[in-house]
Amino acid sequence: MAQDIKKIEAVMCAAPVIPVLVVEDPKKAVPMAEALVAGGLPAIEITLRTPHALEAINAVNTHVKGAIVGAGTVLNGKQYDAAVSAGSQFIVSPGATDTLLDAADEHSVPLLPGAATASEVMLLLERGYERLKFFPAEQAGGASYLKSLSSPLAAAKFCPTGGVSLDKAPDYLKLPNVLCVGGSWIADAKAIASEDWSGIEERARAAAGLND
Ligand code: 3PG
Repeated sequence: MAQDIKKIEAVMCAAPVIPVLVVEDPKKAVPMAEALVAGGLPAIEITLRTPHALEAINAVNTHVKGAIVGAGTVLNGKQYDAAVSAGSQFIVSPGATDTLLDAADEHSVPLLPGAATASEVMLLLERGYERLKFFPAEQAGGASYLKSLSSPLAAAKFCPTGGVSLDKAPDYLKLPNVLCVGGSWIADAKAIASEDWSGIEERARAAAGLND
């Protein structure tokens, strides 16, 4: 089944940046998401890397008006099912496997799968995926590498994530094959643990203004 481009673009085009979050304490998820939404970043990715990530997704989906909450680091079908049950509105994976793509076919909640090479992109295009995460962006070759994929693989549009910062984001956002970027710099683990909601909102606002 082909990727629902309209659905995934609603997530990718909500703002120039998707914050990538590692939430240890689910009680902090709601004020964190409120700060991100207030700063202008409605689409947020909570990674399944902590024991309470699903609880955090559920809390944001239930309580934060205007948030489009998704699950990141989804590696298999079981996690896909659990993330959807928790209220995820989109799913992100660092790469792609046949079993993960088969699981995505069972759900209407869209998948943004990761790819880092021409062959990985080609395999995803064959499976009907044209909106992809470029991961790990900086480590794989950065904006110049991604630009070189734009002509031969013109159908693919990306959300580069991994090592992206406020300074580096513009180099990606100006590429013809980039719709948004992702990153943890807006709300890193330290900012969340110390409840630095005003700092998170301030960094969100700067990120939201990247396309201005
Ligand atoms: C990740 O997998 O943690 C994301 O790609 C975010 O990467 P970053 O912490 O380098 O922004």
